[in-house]
Amino acid sequence: MNQKVFDTGTTLPEKFVLTNEFKKIFKLVDNKNSNIFITGKAGTGKSTFLEYFRQNTKKNHAILAPTGITAIKAKGKTIHSFFKFPPRFIVKEDVKLLKDKKLLQRLETLLIDESSMIRADIFDGIDYSLKINRKNNRPFGGVQIILLGDLFQLPPVVSSNDKEVIDKFYPKGEYFFNAKSFPEGNFLVKELTKIFRQSDADFINLLNKFRLAKIESSDLKIINKRKVAEDFRAPKGAIILSPRNKKVDEINNTKLDEIKSKVFSYTAMVKDIFKESEYPVKKVLNLKVGAQVMITKNDVSEQKKYVNGTLAIIEQLADDEVKLKIKDKIINLPKSRWEKIDYRLNGNSINPKVIGTFVQYPLKLAWAATIHKCQGQTFDEVAIDLDEGAFTHGQTYVALSRAKTMNGIHLLKEIKFSDLFFDKNVFNFLGHELQKKYVKELKTTKTIEEKNRPNTTNEIQSNNWSDKSDRMLMALFKRKVPEKALSKIFKRKITEIRERTLYLMEKK
Ligand SMILES: Nc1ncnc2c1ncn2[C@@H]1O[C@H](COP(=O)(O)OP(=O)(O)OP(=O)(O)O)[C@@H](O)[C@H]1O
Ligand SMILES: [Mg+2]
Repeated sequence: MNQKVFDTGTTLPEKFVLTNEFKKIFKLVDNKNSNIFITGKAGTGKSTFLEYFRQNTKKNHAILAPTGITAIKAKGKTIHSFFKFPPRFIVKEDVKLLKDKKLLQRLETLLIDESSMIRADIFDGIDYSLKINRKNNRPFGGVQIILLGDLFQLPPVVSSNDKEVIDKFYPKGEYFFNAKSFPEGNFLVKELTKIFRQSDADFINLLNKFRLAKIESSDLKIINKRKVAEDFRAPKGAIILSPRNKKVDEINNTKLDEIKSKVFSYTAMVKDIFKESEYPVKKVLNLKVGAQVMITKNDVSEQKKYVNGTLAIIEQLADDEVKLKIKDKIINLPKSRWEKIDYRLNGNSINPKVIGTFVQYPLKLAWAATIHKCQGQTFDEVAIDLDEGAFTHGQTYVALSRAKTMNGIHLLKEIKFSDLFFDKNVFNFLGHELQKKYVKELKTTKTIEEKNRPNTTNEIQSNNWSDKSDRMLMALFKRKVPEKALSKIFKRKITEIRERTLYLMEKK
């Protein structure tokens, strides 16, 4: 089997190229105090830039990310744990004076990766916390904010609990750029433009079309050539990406069940502060010989036999031993120790301090994973099962853009127009110039022709949607009522609901 690599952005690649863009943006961040949104298409090295910055800056900085897993991987913290925010919609009363105020007082630069996922209320919470903890009323309490991310990838997660209040306080939407504090930051937008993850120009162009959801049926035809036969079994070593957790667990558990050997259970040792939502792997790990797993840590020994993301097959198990097969080599996998980091002040500089540990085999069942979990990753080979369909902006683009080559993609379901969502707010924020530039980059600038849509617009139109039901649909859609609920209310299939909302959005 081939070795697959799950890039983490935590180490600089062997063939790291210090491009002029990297140099310029580094200089700007390191020498100036401007707030910057560093963006760029998938694979342009935004996370790699973060690591380069960490290794080369003299500034007192902290690195954060919206979710636990990305934060642990980025050797940083989650926004919530850094600012001690509760796991819900953030109001002023939730923003506390921190015990370690001095740490925030010495902070010069705050960098946040995967910023497309920062919710507006959390962004405002950051601003307010920095102001009160630093007793400084300038935007962000005078701290330089560096956001990294691509707004054409996954948006913030809004739970059903928070939906109503988000709509009320942020009627323009949940993105960070709709935060009340955002305009005061006068953010510059800088772009990394060279794509490193892929090299084939046609594939890059196709991905760019998916990024902007400017797809024609000819493009779908090209990508759907990657559709595999019904009896397809994902090649050993290829991961299946799917939109929903339910499907992913189902695939992993079914695959584990299919193996008729003994189950071995390994329980993690968790010490001090380490929240369940931040566990890097399962607390109780059930494994069988023959299971496909992903190693989630780099080999720190001299041999460097694997890195975080290497896929492997379980070769042999005992109560205190796990042997894996990677390519044709058998290795003995040691347990790993994850550290939960807190930033503490040491004199005038900010030092990370370990506040909790988690010891377990660095393994996950890895026949399948959600697209959300894989944002930021790179794969040589990936199977994509859109199952009941993608459900949010950027999801299909994130899935496809994880692969390095077109041949590395295997589609278990054909991709449809209805798998493409596009949140127009993104261009409203990025502006007309960038919109023009991105559209111009596409080799063909033709937009989707209505007649090429699946279950075409005509068909949708003739499908007995009255003006009244259209109005009601749009009102509920804007209030983010889930598709499943809409499907019940209108007594129509989820796909019909999706197509109709897409049609109405375009018509607007
Ligand atoms: N300057 C560089 N020189 C060489 N390789 C690079 C460089 N920047 C990125 N890469 C490689 O390209 C791949 C993608 O990089 P990275 O994950 O940093 O991109 P990204 O912009 O963060 O992508 P995403 O939007 O998907 O999170 C990785 O394999 C990385 O090692
Ligand atoms: Mg990244």
